[in-house]
Amino acid sequence: MLSDEMKKLIRDHSAGMVASINDDGTPSVSPKATFVVLDNASIAFGNIRSPGTIANIWKRPAVEVCFINVVLRKALRLTGSAEIQMKAEADARLLAAFEATWSPYLKCISAFVQIDVSNAELILSPAYDFGFSEEDLRRINLEKLNAL
Ligand SMILES: Cc1cc2nc3c(=O)[nH]c(=O)nc-3n(C[C@H](O)[C@H](O)[C@H](O)COP(=O)(O)O)c2cc1C
Repeated sequence: MLSDEMKKLIRDHSAGMVASINDDGTPSVSPKATFVVLDNASIAFGNIRSPGTIANIWKRPAVEVCFINVVLRKALRLTGSAEIQMKAEADARLLAAFEATWSPYLKCISAFVQIDVSNAELILSPAYDFGFSEEDLRRINLEKLNAL
């Protein structure tokens, strides 16, 4: 379900905006930058200080996550179901994935939130409709970012 391009986008731009559902039905969008790709249909982030998102997911596991490649102006929207695993009891696979990518942060992570993806959509900026190529957008946006 996650193509190679999608997995690369997550690895290169690991800050995903996680949408969960509050008790009153309103949406909550919260940034998480400790994402890892587990396989072709699951990803995970580490809980460092996300009490609201964690409380929502315990009760309602439905989430969406949006990642953005701000250079190439491409986004990835994932829909899925989240499951919380306390670090002390987590699967060896989850622990290994975080050790490989986020070892400096591991001591601050209390739990892993695994998201099993049911739908994945790559979204391109309208800039592509206007005729810009990837190379155009890379040049223009890196110039803008470097000027910050
Ligand atoms: C760029 C960025 C990345 C973040 N990454 C994480 C993360 O990976 N894990 C985490 O628990 N909190 C992370 N945070 C902090 C939470 O988003 C923040 O504590 C937030 O207020 C939690 O809100 P929530 O409880 O509604 O999720 C990050 C914040 C920012 C700005």
